[in-house]
Amino acid sequence: MLKIADRMSRLGSETAFAVSAEAAAFAKEGNKVYPFHLGDINLPTPKNIVDAAFKAIRDGKTGYCPNSGIPQLRELLAKDVNEARGTHYAMENVVIQPGGKPTIGKFIMALMNPGDEVLYPNPGYPIYESQIEFNGGKAVPYTYYEGKENFEFDMDGLVKSITPKTRLLVLNDLQNPMGAECSKKELEKIAELALKYDLYVLCDEAYFDIRYEGRSKSLASLPGMEERSVILYTFSKKFAMTGWRLGATIAPKEIATLIGKINVNDESCSNHFIQYAVLEGLAGDQTEVKKILGILKERRDAAVDIMNSIDGVTCFRPNATFYLFPNVTGLMKRKGIADYDTFRKTVLHETGVSFCTRLHFGRPLPNEKNFYIRLAYSGINIDQIKEGLGKFKAWAAK
Ligand SMILES: Cc1ncc(COP(=O)(O)O)c(C=O)c1O
Repeated sequence: MLKIADRMSRLGSETAFAVSAEAAAFAKEGNKVYPFHLGDINLPTPKNIVDAAFKAIRDGKTGYCPNSGIPQLRELLAKDVNEARGTHYAMENVVIQPGGKPTIGKFIMALMNPGDEVLYPNPGYPIYESQIEFNGGKAVPYTYYEGKENFEFDMDGLVKSITPKTRLLVLNDLQNPMGAECSKKELEKIAELALKYDLYVLCDEAYFDIRYEGRSKSLASLPGMEERSVILYTFSKKFAMTGWRLGATIAPKEIATLIGKINVNDESCSNHFIQYAVLEGLAGDQTEVKKILGILKERRDAAVDIMNSIDGVTCFRPNATFYLFPNVTGLMKRKGIADYDTFRKTVLHETGVSFCTRLHFGRPLPNEKNFYIRLAYSGINIDQIKEGLGKFKAWAAK
């Protein structure tokens, strides 16, 4: 008889992929779908990166490579990260990974014991909750609330959740799904708490370079924090290469060595020739990378403007990420819809607009009063954004 390991019952998922499957099934029936559900990018990877990948294959970079990545890339990435963040990393701090996501599980595996408490953002990327619980830890949520111009970090809530068992903190600054961002003051406060309570921090910086206004900051650059931060870095979003699967863990040497050891056990090494491709991405011509950001910004503005013109909807305009997290409480009330799934499915079937809701970003917290949906504008062209959200608006007005 098949006997499944107990731990599997604690493994969560990324349910945005299930929404994708539902949207695909609806499209297969001959319906028009406007895809706002997945944080994928419908723009091509810059040509110089593609060319470099082909060249690397032709040059025979097709065998195994070092478990932590090719030295040239580790060195260049350390330099690049230091320039953007004001940190002091060297090659030894960089462990190349097959994407950004693997850093989450490896961070937990390397630093958390069963029973330890881990603070994580909720609403937030669902894999934190999944990996903490899968590995036998206690996932303790902290949240964000609506401020004047964007969502704001609930610092009081975070402070109240720290106990003698708290070991780790997950910070996703430039946050999915809310597009939230910590101020310098908030980062300083988080650093103060990490030092005071001896917390190690996963800095999920997947969207560090997806920024339209202002400048991204890293918690790791604050005094004393490089020693206790593990940066999740990914090439997926900045180079529009989500399907290539390449990223990195950037960590203090001792942790980087442990994570390199996990690499040996998990995948031996990350894809060899893609590492040469991103060398070109980092050091080569940036024209196409800049173009990607320009296109995303136009999409953001179009989507925010339409959402804010709908009665019962309010929507911030985040300076970074490619997500919007509109509050649709008023609209749902007006339509007499009381639950997320009914709302999402009704909108999909009546307008073709497909999105995730708050339910896809961690277990809902007690006493949530407002309803939110997440729109990803990375995978849909501006004319389709206007057409799709225009239909949504017309449906809302009925
Ligand atoms: C907050 C966050 N972290 C990590 C990842 C994973 O990135 P990757 O596709 O490079 O594994 C994502 C992807 O959507 C994300 O939103």
